[in-house]
Amino acid sequence: MADLEQRQSWGTRLGLILAMAGNAVGLGNFWRFPYQLGKWGGGAFLIPYFAALFLLGIPLMWIEWTMGRHGGKYGHGTEGPMVYLMARTSVGPRAAAIWAGIAGMLALGVTILLNSYYLHIVGWTLGYAYLSATGGYMDKTVSTGAYFVNYIQSPGLVMTFWVITLALLGIAVARGVSGGIEKWVSVMMPTLYVICIILIIRVLTLGAPVKPEWSTIKGLDYIWHPDWSKITFQSALAAAGQIFFTLSLGMGIINNYASYLKPDDDVVLSGFATVSLNEFAEVVLGGTIALPIAYAYMGPDGMGAGVGLSFISLPNIFRDMPGGQIWGALWFLLLFFAGYTSAIAMYNYLVALLEEDLKIKRTVASILVFLAYIAAGLPVALEPILTKTADLAYLTELDNWIGSYFLVVLGLVEVVVAAWLFVDSKTKKPALWDEMMRGSFWPTLGKWWFHVVMRWITPIYIVVLLVGTTINYYKDGYLKLVPSFVEKTPALIPWVNGARIVLLAVFILGFVEAYMTIKNKYADEIKQNKVLLEK
Ligand code: TRP
Repeated sequence: MADLEQRQSWGTRLGLILAMAGNAVGLGNFWRFPYQLGKWGGGAFLIPYFAALFLLGIPLMWIEWTMGRHGGKYGHGTEGPMVYLMARTSVGPRAAAIWAGIAGMLALGVTILLNSYYLHIVGWTLGYAYLSATGGYMDKTVSTGAYFVNYIQSPGLVMTFWVITLALLGIAVARGVSGGIEKWVSVMMPTLYVICIILIIRVLTLGAPVKPEWSTIKGLDYIWHPDWSKITFQSALAAAGQIFFTLSLGMGIINNYASYLKPDDDVVLSGFATVSLNEFAEVVLGGTIALPIAYAYMGPDGMGAGVGLSFISLPNIFRDMPGGQIWGALWFLLLFFAGYTSAIAMYNYLVALLEEDLKIKRTVASILVFLAYIAAGLPVALEPILTKTADLAYLTELDNWIGSYFLVVLGLVEVVVAAWLFVDSKTKKPALWDEMMRGSFWPTLGKWWFHVVMRWITPIYIVVLLVGTTINYYKDGYLKLVPSFVEKTPALIPWVNGARIVLLAVFILGFVEAYMTIKNKYADEIKQNKVLLEK
């Protein structure tokens, strides 16, 4: 019953921290954060953002590290069994298997489908890095918006850079956790920080190239000057959603990386270091590049650029900037590195699932995941090419559910299971705190964190976020049979419905997979409905 094989582990603590930072520091930091910050009032966004960081991000990060290390002890790197092992201590193995099914379903949904479209965006960043260096979009007679539309409708460009990205991921993951992921990330992450610093020096020396009152320093002032009157319930929801996304929470992938720890390795300080490195990369570095550049060239209007900030507004600016080809190439290379080191974590989650639950060899599993991502990502590539549109309806529908909704649901499941259902088998008292503090490099952390924050504030915060988001979705017409965003383009309706069918299929697969794994591995426990195996 027990897994006796030697489990892989991280080579060094620095390697682990860099891998975790690579996991968290992603497109969310350099692509999503700046346009959210611009959209929700700059400094005014940072107030609810930091509140969510402390009350939601840090506690959940610790929960995921703790769940992961605990699951790893039993040979598990995936969400379902991790939830089972904790929930069974209070609700018993049979009910815990259901919790595991739900958690496994949500995690599989996220890890297959989030990467299925983000790998395209990562591919675009590589394509744009290449096109920047070779001067592809420098011709001023074509608008950068039209250029972008043309890019996503060109099968050659889209497919080439997408497949290169996927193949590089497969090669790294096939080499294993310390031999592949850790090695690659240990080179890519320091490079990422260096590229950031070069770009920031450029930003700070840019001055005011267009109008004297539009300097990059003024742009920074906009970001750092909170206008309290601009804080709304909506911006607080957006901030909390951003915290989930940027810290890779509710995806199962922090837990997966933590499962390769040894049972007494520190999780508290290391989890905190992950958060700190991510926030430095997001607020300080991510905040100082795209928005101040946009401000210097477009003034306050540049702040509201929205999703097009990275791929449409900035290329427009690189056209005017001296040495713009080089700066453009560096910017997109930065996005590529950030996206790649995050995508690798999702890739590894699926490889771990095949390896542990179906006993498939890592190299073979890596190829299977490669094929699965090709299949899952094909609709994203084909929609603009076949329909000659640029709405990306399939991607939008998936992102609405996977990238901003089900993460939060999974986060809620995790808090409830870890902070409420996980108890000591003898005393029946909550066991999370002691499990988390074992081996901690931060032994003086007050237990009020557990009693006040982790058990109460964090779950309530998540419920409010979930209810608020559901109401927004209702108002925005996402819950309708034909969602509002495709009402006017009937050609896209099948793509939205296709996304829904794919999502449902992956969910069913995820539930069955997690449930069956538990039923097989813990057959005796389930039969007697009693906890038998404890490590
Ligand atoms: N924290 C990551 C980010 O900020 C989120 C993420 C994890 C991710 N894995 C991913 C994003 C894979 C895109 C693709 O971007």
